[in-house]
Order: sequence, then structure tokens, then C-alpha cells
Amino acid sequence: MSIHYDEKTRQLILETRNTCYQMRIDETRYLKHLYYGPKLGQTDMTYPFRIYDRGFSGNPYDMQDNRAYSLDSMPQEYTSYGVGDFRINTITASYSDGSRCAEYRYVSHEITEGKYRIPGLPSVYDNGDNVHTLTVTLADTASNISVRLYYGVFEDLDIITRTAEIINGGDETVWLRKAASVCLELPFGKWDMIHFHGRHCMERQPERVPLFHGIHTISSGRGMSSHQHNPFIVLCDRKATEDSGSCYGMMMMYSGNHKTEVELDQFDGVRAVMGLNDERFRWELMPGTSFHTPEVILTYAEGLTRMSHNYHRVINNNVVRGEYKLSHRPILVNNWEATYFDFNEEKLVEIAAKAAELGMELFVLDDGWFRNRNDDKAGLGDWTPDTQKLPDGLGRLIRKINALGLKFGLWIEPEMVSENSDLYRRHPDWALTAPGRAPMMARNQLVLDMSRKDVRDYLFDAISEILKNNNIDYIKWDFNRPLSDVYSNSTPAEKQGEVPHRYYLGFYELYERLTDAFPHVLFEGCAGGGGRFDAGVLYYSPQIWCSDNTDPISRLRIQYGTSFGYPQTTVAAHVSASPNHQTGRRTPLSTRAVTAMTGAFGYELDLTKLSEEECDEIKAQIKRYKEVEDVIRDGDFYRLSDLEDSSRFVCWEHVSRDKSRCMVSIVVTDPLANAATVHVKLKGLDPEALYSVGGEFECLGSALMENGYTFMQLLGDYPALQLDICRVK
Ligand code: GLA
Repeated sequence: MSIHYDEKTRQLILETRNTCYQMRIDETRYLKHLYYGPKLGQTDMTYPFRIYDRGFSGNPYDMQDNRAYSLDSMPQEYTSYGVGDFRINTITASYSDGSRCAEYRYVSHEITEGKYRIPGLPSVYDNGDNVHTLTVTLADTASNISVRLYYGVFEDLDIITRTAEIINGGDETVWLRKAASVCLELPFGKWDMIHFHGRHCMERQPERVPLFHGIHTISSGRGMSSHQHNPFIVLCDRKATEDSGSCYGMMMMYSGNHKTEVELDQFDGVRAVMGLNDERFRWELMPGTSFHTPEVILTYAEGLTRMSHNYHRVINNNVVRGEYKLSHRPILVNNWEATYFDFNEEKLVEIAAKAAELGMELFVLDDGWFRNRNDDKAGLGDWTPDTQKLPDGLGRLIRKINALGLKFGLWIEPEMVSENSDLYRRHPDWALTAPGRAPMMARNQLVLDMSRKDVRDYLFDAISEILKNNNIDYIKWDFNRPLSDVYSNSTPAEKQGEVPHRYYLGFYELYERLTDAFPHVLFEGCAGGGGRFDAGVLYYSPQIWCSDNTDPISRLRIQYGTSFGYPQTTVAAHVSASPNHQTGRRTPLSTRAVTAMTGAFGYELDLTKLSEEECDEIKAQIKRYKEVEDVIRDGDFYRLSDLEDSSRFVCWEHVSRDKSRCMVSIVVTDPLANAATVHVKLKGLDPEALYSVGGEFECLGSALMENGYTFMQLLGDYPALQLDICRVK
């Protein structure tokens, strides 16, 4: 059993294969956080908390004689509010008398088999593997509010998930103003934070900063997990590297507004609180009801690589679902960068015919296939084919594409509506718009109110109709603007603060209904590229379009940042044209393929314009991808270069689980005359095994890992190479 309760010390202990998490119900029944980190063989971690005077920090009423006891310095599992802990807090509620104070003290706990689920929200699931749940109930007696803290302990994966349920046990309505999912405390040590910021076309750029005294905030209020701040952070010790040092990951499984606050306090303790963004949040908690917060996935590991591996495993095995979970993903061609809105059936079939000849497996028809969609000014919401471009609708096109031996995929943007659409003309009140105001426009479109059931039913019917009547294997679900003017026409004034979260409850409900009704369809998430790249979306779509920037050199950094939290299988990456449409940069076809081959692989360019040599090269790339796909998909991923190296080169490695096969990929971004070599140390091999290196020589795994490998003569325009290493003995 991975969860124990020690009666004598009143400690609750969670254990995974390599980590341990401890809390204690203290003498005043506050739930004190004691420890999270490597398993150390010692079970009682109360000893570092020596008692000393806390000066200007006050004491709870029942501990007023003990100046050493203060909530303001005590590490806690979930905070109280307004009663003497002046650091960042997890929960704020206001009551009918106008007060807001709350003291959450321990009431009971329960240990159960398996993993808890969260009603209406995506969460990590168990596969009947070694998973247990701890539920601890805390309560504030004066307000009759209780908080149930859930801990899902995935013993084999070194993962602990957390969520909180807030329950109104009183007989008056309570207004929740903040309800975070988790509070993680690191009372000792010196820490850096790594977070993943960005913008459209430059998502998930890692930034590592030492914590300063004060509060760091990483958040999105854009109604999407966002290009700007991914809901994922790492806290690592100052000296942590890929291979060593304490690393804590906190990843929120949520696609809407989020907020992470990390405070380095007066006593040098660190408190990290992650959850819904409270700025746009106000929830009416009626008597007898409860509110569930989204899930946060925690891990601890030595070194950033292991931390990433923990996330890669849990996402691949316990987040992603469905038929494509761990199986071959079709190599696709997408027509967006080939044609944009300017196509007809003939042009599409020409591209598809070329794709089939080159060995591709799926043709994706992107934006522009529905009525009035000749640019981005009209059409969203009216999901019926444009008979000018497709005279016989989707049916004949799909038949032609299937006849070429290809599967067919389709782009949709369900949550959006154009002002110039029949849907908007019929239901202007379905769009999020604030009374008396002209809404902000983005890409000429408005956002449908996903908190409304009638909107969701319309979308379910419209999308089901398309999927039922056509042989469609793949859907790219796009989302191309942030949420502004967030006001629901079907919600009373006092409940408008619930709309941002109810939007996502609606989004998840619709996604669940569709994936349930069409289990054979592979869904790919997208939001202006990677603006909604999060574990919430991955619960429904096994892969996400990583960025609208398809320049392989920009992608190196985007995919590098993405790899800290998300596995390669989830990263959709395509070979596109050169010069690149976003940056104008010219790169070799081989470099574009090496970069795209790190994820869910595909092409996005006009294949009919390729030379014969380029066609031959693409055939060889596809053959190669099919040979190495299982290592990319099922193996372990290692970053062999770091951000400092990336001005010169980026190098990464995939190693099969049994360590018998390894593929090292390198792209040189700044070839140096008279120093055209790159030396890297390999990782993850069997030190005692003999490997054949690129078919050139044989060498022990230990040598490749300790003494490294030298890539020679990497000159030219962004040269790239893949090196195969195979165990011979
Ligand atoms: C977004 C997507 C692109 C493409 C366009 C179509 O920007 O990220 O891949 O589908 O929309 O409008």
C-alpha cells in the first residue's frame, strides 16, 4: 500500500517507487506539510521543524501562549484565509454576513484503492495499476465549509495528483472567490523556477529564474491555457541539471484560465499555489453543493530528464485515451500551407495523389471547406461544405481520397462563430458579448458560449452529422482566438463570474460526447498552433498541433521547451516549404524532416510542386520514419543539448525501453569554420552493452555515455543528421 497513516505521530505518508510525501495532523488539527522528495528510509520528517519564536507573525487563538506556532510560517497542505497566514493562499470565500475568514482544520481521512475521478473534468486515470487515493477532509466550523483534499498516488510512476473539493455544508449561499487545486511547500533550500512562456508562433520557451523574495505569478486570463504561459512549472534546486538535482514538476490538467503563484517568504520557505485563475472567478456555492477544482499532476525526480520522463509516461499511459493511445499515428499531409483558402476538389486530389505515391497515409483538409469561407471573415459556425469548391460536398472528395489508399481528416473550429454566418444571424445571443459593448474581434470571429447546453447540442449534432455521413478518420479541432467580453446571455448577473470555468466544463463535456460517439476518430488539438497545449486537451486528443511556426529552426526551441512536460507522441510536427512561410528562412529538406520526425509526423506543403529529387528524398524520409517510429513513440527521450548550446546546435536522443536501439538527432544552427564538430555525451544506454554506432564502429555504452560521440563536418545551411546506434551484444 502506497499510503500509510501512523497513529502515534499522526502522520500521513504517501510513497511512490522513488519518492515520499508526508504531512502531519498537528496538535491544533492543522494539516502541516512535512516533506516531499526522494525516499530516504526515514519515516518521521518532523525533526527539521525546530521550534523558535516567530517574532511578528501571530499565533492562532488556541496557541496564543506559544510564540513559536504561527500559520504564517507553517508549511501547509491547503491554507486558511485571513487568520494570520499572510502568504499566498489557496481559497477565499465570502459569506452572507460579509466576512471572509476561514480556518481549515483536520476532520478525517480515508484511504481507498484506485484513483479518484473529478466530475466533469479531465483527470489522470488508472489502468488498474498500482494506484491509491487519500482523501483528507478539513473544515472551517464557523462557516460550515469543508475542503476535501484528494491525493492520487501512482506508485510505479512517481506521480502524485491532487485536487480539492469545496463543500458548503451550511444553509446559506457562499461565494467562492478563489479555489486553488494545490499548495506545495518547500520549506528548505534554494530554488530556481523554470516556466514556459511565449507567444503565437513561439510557444513554450523555457526560462529559468532564481526565486527572489516576493511572489512570482504565471497565469493566463485569456480563456485558454495560452501561448503565453503554459500551466506547467518546475521548481529545481539552483544546481539542478538534466541529470542531477532536486526537481519538482507541477502541471495543471486544465485548458482555461489558470494561475500559479510561487512565493519565497520571509523565512526563505517556498510556497507554490496552482489552480484556476481567481481574477475572473466567482462561484455561487449553494447550500449542500460542492465545487471541484481541476487536477494538478505533481512529480519529484533527480534531474530534469527523469522529471520529464515521469510526465511523458503518465501522459502517454494515464492521460491519453482511445485507439491511438500507443499505436501508430498516420503520417499525414495537410493542405493549409499548400493552398490556404484557395483550393478546389481537383487541387486537393492532386495533392492527395502525390501524397499516396510518396507513402503518406492521411490527407487532412484544413480550413476553407465550408460555406462562404474564402478568407477568415465569414463562415465559422455553418458546418456545411462549400459547393463551389467541392461541387459534390465532402462525400465525393473523400471517396476519391480513399480510393488513393489514404484516410481522410477534416479541420473544424467548433467553439467559434463568424458574424457573417447563418448561425450568428440566427443566434446572436450564442456568442460571448457583453451588454452594450462592441466586442473585441480577433481574426474576425467571436466565441460561442460553451457554457450553454443549446450551443453544445447544436455543435454535437452538426459535428456528428459530418462524422456519421462521411468516412472521416481524423479531426483537427482548432480554436483561433482568446476569450474576451466573457458574458453569457443565458446566465444571471450574479453568476457571470462562473462563465470562464463553465465554458471549459462545457468544452470538456462536448469533447467527451464526441470522442465517446466516434471512438475511431483521431482528434488533434490546435489553437492558433500550440495555444492550448495542455494535459486537459490531451485527455481527449492524443496529439496537438505544436505551433503555427513550421520553421524547423524555430521549432527546435519550441519542441525543446515542450519536451519538459509533454511526450513526443503528443507533439504534431510537419515538414513545410522552404523558404518558410512564417520566417522566410531557407532550410534543407533533410533538416525539416529531422526536426519534424521527433513527434507525430506529417507534411504541410504543396507536394505537386516538388522536384523529382525532393520526392525521392521524401519517400526515403517516410520509409525511415516507419522504421524508427516505435523508438520515437515508446522510447525514452533525452535532451542532449541545453539552452546555452542552442545558439550553435540542438541535439536530442530517443532510446528504446530495452536500450537496444537509439537514434540521435542533431541540427546545427551556427556551423563554425575550422571547428565543424559537435561533441555530445549520449544517455540512457546500457553501459555494458556493445553498440554499433552508425554502422561505422562498435563501442561500449559506457564509452558513448562517459566519453561521448563526435559529429564531424557539420557545415552548410542548418545541416542535420540522424545517427543510429544498435546493440550488437
Ligand atoms: C490555425 C491553425 C493552422 C490552420 C489555420 C486555419 O492558425 O493553427 O494550422 O489550421 O488555423 O485557419
